[in-house]
Amino acid sequence: METTTEGDNLRYTKMPLNNGSGAIPALGFGTLIPDPIDTINATKAALEAGFRQLDSAERYRNEKQVGEAMQEVFKEGKIKREDVFIATKLWNSNHRPERVKTAFDASLNRLQLDYLDLYLIHTPFAFRPGEEQDPRDENGKVIYDDGITLLDTWRALETLVDEGRCKAIGLSDVNVEKTKEIFESARIKPAVVHVESHPYLPEWELLEFCHQNGIVLQAFAALGHSSEPRLLDDPVITSIAKRVNKTPAQVALAWAIQRGTALLTTSKTPSRIKENFDISALPEDAVQEISKGITTRLRFNAVVETGVPGFIPRGK
Ligand SMILES: NC(=O)c1ccc[n+]([C@@H]2O[C@H](COP(=O)([O-])OP(=O)(O)OC[C@H]3O[C@@H](n4cnc5c(N)ncnc54)[C@H](OP(=O)(O)O)[C@@H]3O)[C@@H](O)[C@H]2O)c1
Repeated sequence: METTTEGDNLRYTKMPLNNGSGAIPALGFGTLIPDPIDTINATKAALEAGFRQLDSAERYRNEKQVGEAMQEVFKEGKIKREDVFIATKLWNSNHRPERVKTAFDASLNRLQLDYLDLYLIHTPFAFRPGEEQDPRDENGKVIYDDGITLLDTWRALETLVDEGRCKAIGLSDVNVEKTKEIFESARIKPAVVHVESHPYLPEWELLEFCHQNGIVLQAFAALGHSSEPRLLDDPVITSIAKRVNKTPAQVALAWAIQRGTALLTTSKTPSRIKENFDISALPEDAVQEISKGITTRLRFNAVVETGVPGFIPRGK
């Protein structure tokens, strides 16, 4: 895939999207931040630090705060709406085609936007349709919706593109089989596949499929979500960081872009937000050392198995 990088300006890398829907800035900021005030402050800090790609979701229940933060920044006049690539996601309880447009409009309204750059289906699992985001039976088991397929929901997203409401559409929390299934049947091909990925979960097979088919793989939890065992303490990462005079986080983020993925990282700490934007290209041998020298394999978020979001608690 042809990506646009200017010299060592790795942080400004953009990856072209299929369907003529523009390009996605590779370095993205995620807004899965539980506290509403932290969400506002972090979103503003991310835009001010230089991030031009924001990821949100109706499930995060903070689109309103993300919208407020963006508006405050846009009103200052230095950054315009069209300078920022904004994504959000359709939740599992809204997979029925007749619910998609309403859910999309509600997200847009909360974000105070009139179009989206990218709309993702948050997970391939349809839950019972309704306002309850996490429907459970009397035994606490998730109530799924068997009356609908992912392709039915995908068709409804294609209509949003036809209507010019969002520029690109994509999938999230899917494996390579699901990605192929939708890719083969789709009229408008997925532009982005958004999955957990970092050196402990490189998803090489999915990345290869995406690269062969013009899809951008967007890696979430690019720093391993601070989960144990901590990716940022991995000796391969820390030794490269010392060698290139960057922080372990900057090394992990640079690796993600240099191997050909877009990424999402999150922080509520202003200094880390700046640090995470201030990345530089690693020497090729360091990229290879991470790709080949790290053999730990770990998934930190179990959402792909059930559609229920959440990082897996691990003992410290
Ligand atoms: N589709 C899905 O199912 C799904 C699931 C999960 C996440 N996501 C998306 O992906 C985004 C990113 O995921 P993530 O939160 O796991 O990202 P991450 O960047 O891997 O992890 C964030 C954690 O790393 C810490 N951190 C950030 N920068 C750091 C640095 N420079 N040095 C040390 N620690 C640092 C943060 O701490 P502080 O905040 O305390 O600074 C926070 O605890 C989310 O916001 C969301 O948009 C999607």
